[in-house]
Amino acid sequence: MTPPRIINIIVAAGSGSRFGAEIPKQFCRLTDSTVLLHAVRRIENALPGSHTVVVLSPQWAGQAGDRCIAPGGPTRWHSVKNALDACADIPADIITVHDGARPLPSSAMIRRVITACSSHHGAIPVIPVTDSLRHIDGHAVNRAEFRAVQTPQAFRADLLHRAYSLPYSDTFTDDASVMSAAGFSDIALTEGDPMNLKITLPLDLEIAKLYITHGAGH
Ligand code: C5P
Repeated sequence: MTPPRIINIIVAAGSGSRFGAEIPKQFCRLTDSTVLLHAVRRIENALPGSHTVVVLSPQWAGQAGDRCIAPGGPTRWHSVKNALDACADIPADIITVHDGARPLPSSAMIRRVITACSSHHGAIPVIPVTDSLRHIDGHAVNRAEFRAVQTPQAFRADLLHRAYSLPYSDTFTDDASVMSAAGFSDIALTEGDPMNLKITLPLDLEIAKLYITHGAGH
């Protein structure tokens, strides 16, 4: 069987207001590189022969090396949409979408979403919730019924383009929610990785450094 043709969209056009630094979190130094370049290299190394598009605000255009870039939009949805438009003419079977603020996806985890995507509309990595959960109206909920969703998420390329041709809604939280709203709800849940953290607060950078020192998730 011929391997699927894969495009990777790495979104890195957020301003990261919760992080509180002058530099957006995805461009902060992490060991010998930046958070973003760790993410990009791990995806490329796990999927040799794939094509990568990095979404950046124009003033940060130099942060992706010599890779293809697309301009960021006002929300994550608009940023993904810009990347899809930029790669509309490139033949692809599967499109992955990954947060540039998640520097440590393991290759095993990346390959799991690709494998599951071949028999579903898409696949998303999830991890169990370890904290107790409570609805904001005060009632307790059963955490065993919930999963926290990570990236990279992988989708059939034709269906993702169709889902993103529909209008924007502020209820979209990730690409799987855009697919489901378009009627493509056969989304497989694959095993995520607790070390695939999203850098949100300055302390997360120190945690990521520790994970790398301990050989996390290659
Ligand atoms: O803000 P949050 O961490 O949830 O953003 C998730 C990812 O989406 C980040 O990698 C961020 O850079 C990206 N993003 C984007 N364009 C936006 C907002 C967020 O590329 N307008």
